Amino acid sequence: MDATQKIDIPRSDFIGGSKGLLIGGKWRPSASGKEFDTVNPATGEVIARLAEGDKTDIDEAVAAARRAFEGEWSRWTPYDRQRLLLRVHDVIEKNFDELALLETLDMGAPLSRTKALKTFVSQAILFYASQTRAATTESAPTSFAGQFTALKIKAPVGVVGGIIPWNAPLVSQWWILGPTLATGCTAVLKPAEDASLTALRVAELLLEAGVPDGVVNVVTGFGTGAGAALAAHPDVDRVAFTGSTETGRKIVEASAGNMKRVQLELGGKSPDIVFADADLDIAVPGAAMAVYGNSGQICTAGTRLLVQRSIQDEFVSKLQEFSQTLRVGNGLDPLVNLGPLVSRKQLDRVLEYIDIGAREGASLTSGGKRLAGDLEAGYFVEPTIFAGVNNDMRIAREEIFGPVVSVIPFDDADDAIRIANDTTYGLAGGIWTQSLSTAHQMSQRIKAGTIWVNCYGALDPGVGFGGYKMSGYGWKGGPEHVNGFLYEKVVYMNIG
Ligand code: NAI
Ligand code: MG
Repeated sequence: MDATQKIDIPRSDFIGGSKGLLIGGKWRPSASGKEFDTVNPATGEVIARLAEGDKTDIDEAVAAARRAFEGEWSRWTPYDRQRLLLRVHDVIEKNFDELALLETLDMGAPLSRTKALKTFVSQAILFYASQTRAATTESAPTSFAGQFTALKIKAPVGVVGGIIPWNAPLVSQWWILGPTLATGCTAVLKPAEDASLTALRVAELLLEAGVPDGVVNVVTGFGTGAGAALAAHPDVDRVAFTGSTETGRKIVEASAGNMKRVQLELGGKSPDIVFADADLDIAVPGAAMAVYGNSGQICTAGTRLLVQRSIQDEFVSKLQEFSQTLRVGNGLDPLVNLGPLVSRKQLDRVLEYIDIGAREGASLTSGGKRLAGDLEAGYFVEPTIFAGVNNDMRIAREEIFGPVVSVIPFDDADDAIRIANDTTYGLAGGIWTQSLSTAHQMSQRIKAGTIWVNCYGALDPGVGFGGYKMSGYGWKGGPEHVNGFLYEKVVYMNIG
């Protein structure tokens, strides 16, 4: 791992200094004047200072969003909004190399990964640009035989609060920005305290693309301050949240004050099921990266790797071999596959789970340690495999959010389904088999919002995804998502 010493570091003028809040089209410090450090998790260095927004700033941002919602923006036609989204698309695409660099420096994912997000982000913006006519009026068929005519109106819901996590802000902010701009809503975005830089830089680019003042506001700060104030705000009509299940529950409670619409995408403990007839040449790297991708910090990660007992030993040894080929290090190094965890807090949490797994009696067959030497200033953990895991163990039940896989043996399809569905989560699942009928039956029986067969992690923003059980509710991406940003109304006219 010593090649990380000689990295030719690309630069962005956005790194360094103090960043403000974007409220009503103006950048300004927090009302309290407070700031906090944001850190590069690969080195532990402070890379910028962020304004610490709290309730006062949220109040002002919501008021700015409300004014924008009621103002000129409400008269924009679907074509105007579509044209705007296409301009946004082009500005984001033009600046994507810088955004990828900022994301890597801020949350640690390798540059190879953050750069590759360009295609997905482009597709997401293009998808939302195609949805601007969702907020329209249609005549609805009625059975009143001529006397009444009914019009069904879909109108933007109003001010949207978006609270996003740190694991992929470059992607997750578009689940707020895209439908907001497509429908004519306005938004207050609260990025995660551990990774806010790309949301701030994107906000600058939105202004450059011509998004009117107040349509998108960004308030950085902590969950207990800015986040909680946004979730509880009486003039926010809808809140969209991605993050932990515990915080999701607090959002639901806070939303009750004004019964705001809520969309939640929470954790997962997704089963990834490998049958004995699977093609191991694709199943081994596929299942490994289903957990290790983004250093395990992905809500859909296939962390419970269910392997048919007859191939367990062969599979685990191939998985170990593959894990050893992965290079962990500073994401600026083009040869690196896995970056650090996002923060000291996440590092401690993941190491604690590794400890718990060992104490619960799972067999730690590879990895398990924090990386030292050149990497000791960052928050790096080795890709880690626990074999012989029992689904009752905490490492099989709780979201770890690190590069840690639990291999759980199963006997047959019924056994696999019993284990797969024995979880409080239901975000995703994977199946590796060469049998079409096994794939078809299993994909119907797993209780989860997305199932991948002989692949893992594919996602089309025009199709979207959602969760069963405690993985949340509402759909992200696809026309259903856009509909969630609309109120429906019917007008009956007595014209007989
Ligand atoms: P978190 O859910 O607390 O943070 C996510 C966002 O919510 C951040 O912007 C945070 O500032 C905000 N927030 C926190 N408390 C809030 C409150 N009371 N009201 C409103 N907003 C609030 O997650 P955290 O602490 O960063 O990570 C802990 C664990 O959560 C991870 O280890 C992982 O298991 C899970 N997680 C899951 C994610 C997913 O995509 N499903 C993403 C991030 C974390
Ligand atoms: Mg950071």
